[in-house]
Parts: sequence; C-alpha cells; structure tokens
Amino acid sequence: MEITDWKNLPFGYIKTEYNVRCSFRHGKWGKLEVSSSEYINVHIAATGLHYGQEAFEGLKAYMGKDGKVRLFRWEENAKRLALSASGIKMAEVPVELFRDAIFKAIELNKKYIPPYGSGATLYIRPLLYGSGAEVGVKPASEYQFIVFVTPVGPYFKEGVKPVNMIISRDFDRAAPKGTGIFKVGGNYAASLRAIVDAKCAGYSNTVFLDAKEKKFIDECGPANFFGIKDNSYVTPKSESILNSITNMSLIEIAKSIGMKTERRQIPVTELCSFTEVGACGTAAVISPIAKIFDPEDNMVYEYCKDGNPGPVSMTLYNKLTSIQSGDEPDPYGWITILE
Ligand SMILES: Cc1ncc(COP(=O)(O)O)c(C=O)c1O
Repeated sequence: MEITDWKNLPFGYIKTEYNVRCSFRHGKWGKLEVSSSEYINVHIAATGLHYGQEAFEGLKAYMGKDGKVRLFRWEENAKRLALSASGIKMAEVPVELFRDAIFKAIELNKKYIPPYGSGATLYIRPLLYGSGAEVGVKPASEYQFIVFVTPVGPYFKEGVKPVNMIISRDFDRAAPKGTGIFKVGGNYAASLRAIVDAKCAGYSNTVFLDAKEKKFIDECGPANFFGIKDNSYVTPKSESILNSITNMSLIEIAKSIGMKTERRQIPVTELCSFTEVGACGTAAVISPIAKIFDPEDNMVYEYCKDGNPGPVSMTLYNKLTSIQSGDEPDPYGWITILE
C-alpha cells in the first residue's frame, strides 16, 4: 500500500510489506526469516494461547530532518523483553537477535517510515510467545519471536492535549509479586474491564491503584504516572508496574534541568498537592492530565485549569521529543542511527 497522507495516519495498524520471525526449538534459536504474511500458523495447544505465555515490546523509529532514521533506547526494550520472558518462563531473546530482527524489519519496510515533520513515526512491535504444544500447565519447549512494524500517526492529532482520568476502584491490573513488572499480555487483559468502563464513562483512561491497600498510585492505563511539585518530578515506586523507558528518560531530563526527582509511593491523597500530573509512555511521550476523578469520595483533582498542558510537562516533552527526532543533540547516548 502506498501512503501519501502521512499527516492523517491513525494511531493503529497499517499493513507493511514484511515482518521477521525466528523460532526457538531443541533449546536454541534458529535463523531469522523474512515473511510477507500477516498471519501465523499456531498449534492449537500452544502455551501462548492457553496459558498466556506471551510478551511484547513497543518502540519507535523516527525520521530526522537530516534524512537519518533514529531508534530510541532499543537496548532497553531488548532487556525488558528478556526480563518479561524470564518472568513467565519463556526462552529469552538474546540482545543480538533482538537487534538484528528490529533492524531488519525496519530496513525491509523503509518506505513506511513517515517523513520528518509529519508527526508520524514507525512503530516497532516485537512479540514472543510459547508456540510449543502442552496440555498440563508448564512452560513450552518451543517459542516464536516475531517483529512487525507499522506506521502510526501522532497520538494527539492537534498537539499535546490534557486528558481526564478516573481512578479504578473496582478492578486491579496487577498484584504485588505478580506479573505487573513484565510486559506480558495477561496484564493487558486484566486491565481491559477498567479501561473500557473508564472510556464508557467519558474518561480517556484509568488510574490503577496498588492492589493490596488501594492507597497508592500504580499506573495510568498503559503508561506510567508522574506528578510535579516544588521543582520535583515524582513517580511511583511499586512492585507491580512496568518500568517505562520514557519515564526513565524523563527522570534524566528533569535532573538535567535542575529538578529533584523522587521515585516513591504516591498516596492518592497527595494528588491535591501536585501542580501538574501526567501519564508517560512511548505512544504519546507525555499525556498531561487535566482531571482525575476518584469515585470513592467523588473527589475531583484538577490541573491545567486554562486547558493547556503545564509548563514543566511541556519542557520535558519538548526536550525528549527533540532528542528522539534528532532536532537536538543526544547527550545521553540514547539514539542509534540506522545507516
Ligand atoms: C503498562 C505500561 N506501563 C508503562 C508503559 C510505558 O512504557 P514505555 O515508556 O517503555 O513505552 C507502557 C507502554 O509500553 C505500558 O504498557
């Protein structure tokens, strides 16, 4: 498919020409293969289907003004996929295989990398699942690693826009000592009731609390949470949230502009003391939050009262996105330029 209207691409799936695949059998990874099919042939007893042995990643390639393609901190995604694999007893994808697979998938689909200035990017989705057949509950002995890419439009079409969120009190996403720190499909399945309910009630997403005490903030749907106050960037410490690569990067940028940074438990009651709050992740980088509603006591925490994102969130957003696109130099070594 020829894409011409890059500016109006949705944030969704668009078919590209090729994906790459690799199988793990007899205790070792095979050769990387290229496929032009969007489908996979899965065994009816694969553990990925029955017991949730599945993990994935999400990262983006950015076209710079200089015509060079940039990848942002892909090694962190490789490490996180390995952590997710070990967390649900799957074969780990070695960093070199991860690198070869994502580089190849991008290279083969070069014409789908959105041009500089369109606001669109090439989203890369590595996927790992148990492909071996088992009936008893145990890890498979065979695995499949797939990388596909798809061009995606900007998360916010009209620029960064504050959103409203509701605290989830009826459903938990992940339990302490469960699988919340891994990027595995089961966590997303567990989050769907809360997310769908939030959307039906007119909210953009849901704020999950710690499952044990329902006292502290965990995550915002599929993104990490941060709050700003007294020149500090504060983000939750929890044993059931995904370690966001965007959040790790915002922490570094916050430090570089002289802010203090804190990773600690954030009680819901502290929401009233932040001047800005937001969600962060690869998809939108930062989604500033305008309102958080707590159905338990009908409390509404309000930010962005003039309808605009707060100044600190915008500074962090602009700095990070400028590094990703290559508009500003990368002092951290986060960018890999694909030659
Ligand atoms: C549950 C969850 N939390 C946080 C994030 C943000 O992580 P990252 O910044 O690495 O995209 C994501 C998205 O990957 C996510 O799915």
